[in-house]
This record gives sequence, C-alpha cells and structure tokens, in this order.
Amino acid sequence: MDRRRLYTVLDPDSSDRAARLFRVVHHVLVALGIAAMLADSVPFIAADHDPVLRAGYYLVGAFFVVEYLLRLIAAPEMPGQEHGGPLRARLRWAISLGGMLDLLCALPAIGALARVPWAHLVGFVWAFKYVRYSPGLASLNRVVRNARQALLSVLLGFAIVLLTAASIAYLLERHANPDAFGSIPAALWWAIVTMTTTGYGDVVPQTVAGRILGGFVMIGGILTFALWAGILASGYAEELRRREFLRTWELVAKVPFLHNIGASLIAEVASLLRPRDFPAGAVIMRRGQAGDCMYFIIDGEAEVQLPSQRVYLGPGQFFGEVALLTGAPRNATVVASQACTLLSLDIADFHQLLGRHPELARIIHAEAQQRPGDVAPTLSEPALAIDESA
Ligand code: CMP
Repeated sequence: MDRRRLYTVLDPDSSDRAARLFRVVHHVLVALGIAAMLADSVPFIAADHDPVLRAGYYLVGAFFVVEYLLRLIAAPEMPGQEHGGPLRARLRWAISLGGMLDLLCALPAIGALARVPWAHLVGFVWAFKYVRYSPGLASLNRVVRNARQALLSVLLGFAIVLLTAASIAYLLERHANPDAFGSIPAALWWAIVTMTTTGYGDVVPQTVAGRILGGFVMIGGILTFALWAGILASGYAEELRRREFLRTWELVAKVPFLHNIGASLIAEVASLLRPRDFPAGAVIMRRGQAGDCMYFIIDGEAEVQLPSQRVYLGPGQFFGEVALLTGAPRNATVVASQACTLLSLDIADFHQLLGRHPELARIIHAEAQQRPGDVAPTLSEPALAIDESA
C-alpha cells in the first residue's frame, strides 16, 4: 500500500470503503480495550478471567502502537506538508495535539513491554481516541480557544474570590474552629468546596459571621459557573453561525450571477441565504401561490412549468423573484426535475436587501431577461422603480 493510500485509509473524514472499515475496527477496539480494563479492576471478574482480559487489553494496546506508527509514516501526505520534507512533516505531526494523544494511547502497550506493573490500568486514555472522530469536540476546542480571554477572566475572578473567602474565613473562624480553619491554606479547602457548591459538610463555619460569609461564597460560586456556561453557550452559537455561513458562502461562490455584485454585497447576501435540499419530483412552488422567497440553484435542475411550455433551469440560475418584485402570485409551478440544492432568500430579507442595494433589482432583471424559453415574465420598469424607492 502506498503512502497516499495509507493516509486516505487513516483520514477520519474519508468516505473510502477501507477508511470506513478501519474506523469501525478502531472504534470497536477502543470500546473493547476500555471494557477489558474496567472488568479487570473488578475482583470477582478478574479472579475468573484475568488472563483473557489482559490478553485482550494488550492486543488492543498493540493495535494502537501500530496505528501510531502508521500515522507517523503517512504524516507527509497531510495537506500543507508537501514542501517541508517527510521528516519535518512527521515531526510536526508527532508534536501536534493529535500526535500527542496517539502517543498517549500507545503508552499502555509500551508500559507493558517495559514491565510497568500498572500498565494494565491506564487504558482509560483510549477514550481520547474518539476525540479525532468527534466534530462536536473539535468545535468545543475552537469555542474554548476563541473565548479563552473571557474564560480566563472569569477564572481569575474565581481565584480572587477563593483567596479572599479563605482569608476572611481564617480571620473569622480560626479560634472557633482551629482544626478546619487553622491556616489560610486549610481554609482554602472549605472555600473551594463552598464555592463549587459541593458542600461535603466536612468543614462547617461555627460563627455567625462565618456562616454569612459562606452564603456569599456559595452565591459567588453559582454566579461564576453561570458566567462560564453563558460564555461557552454564546461561543457555541457563534461557532454554529460561522459554520453555516461558511457552507452558504461555499454555495454562493457557485452562483455566477452573484459574482457580479461585489465582495461586500456577496458577504451580506451570504448571511441571508439558507441552504435547502429538494428531492427529485418535489414541487418547490405552485402557480398562483403568494411569493414568500426566491431561490438560487446550486446543484441539480428545476423545471418551470408554464402554461405553454417547460423551461429547465440549472446551477447558477434563479427563480421565484417575480412574485417578490411585483407582489403578484407565482406565474409558474416549479418542480425539482433532479434532486436540487438551492439557496433561499426570504421575502423580508429580499426587500431589505433591495432597499439597501437598488442596483441588485436591475441585475436580477437583466439576468432574468437572458432566460431560455418565452420572454421571461419578470418585472416591469414601474415595478423596478417602486422597488428602488423602497
Ligand atoms: P415567480 O412568479 O415568483 O414564481 C415562478 C417563477 O418561475 C417565476 O417567479 C420566475 O422566476 C420563473 N419563471 C417564470 N417564467 C419563466 C421563464 N419563461 N423562464 C424561466 N423562468 C421563469
């Protein structure tokens, strides 16, 4: 097997048959390895099956050592590594997060070879093997990286409140409760347990002032975690918006008509368009209905069913604009003659956009005039004028 092929098989996003098979084997082995480790830590199971469990565990460990070596061999095929030479590419991969995690996952087997006595108990690290295959975790990584400033500020606030709480608790409680509050480091344990609202109950303030302080610290803890959750949630929402925008942008780039409208306007249009898929035969709009959106065709083909003839529209063309511009009902039924990927532009966004960029109405009009079939019943000059005044 050549290096390129090896890289394809190991690529987590590849849809190649061998790559899919590799992923199935990989995921099953991760689960089996972890299950063997868990079972081996239960005394009555280990008593009966220890040799089988250990053999299975080390077999899985050996698989991950081989996988590490194969990924190292295939590293020069990674995108962007064409010019640096194979050695450099391998080094880069080895010190990347993915490379480090794979090395970590090879450790149980390496530990067994080195006769480390607890090597059979560190199989939990294999859970990290799933990270590479989870787009959600990759997003989380990006969210945390993007929001790191805000998260660090909250962490700093947490540390300040913790230290302040421990110091004040020491001042208030050190005589009444010398065992738990005999020093500030000792009081820190109480502050952490209280601030995280864990409340083991092993350390309790005795004085009234100490209990009031405890109440404030608990509320402070809840606020801190609420802030963290809020930052992460808004980071996630932002990340999802960004991904949706990127997908739309990719699709927008396929519509030649949109190339004529300038980069800043494309960005504005891309943020308003929504991708939609229609199976072959689906009715996209019916003649006589009120217009609520227009569509740009990205992939596939749409059939415009006019009373006198059929017109076929393909990638890069659009339809459904007449009803939006004139306010009249749809003048034709449009059906997906093949499975279609379309971008839809909502009527409210359409009018807002045309209000800000009247030249767009003229571009749409000119484009519609070039359609195949009958003289396209698009919009009249007065309609254009009305629109420009919107
Ligand atoms: P609308 O009237 O909103 O809904 C039906 C759509 O079919 C119409 O907008 C046009 O976009 C499109 N359409 C109508 N006539 C033709 C034609 N002759 N050629 C191509 N498309 C058309």
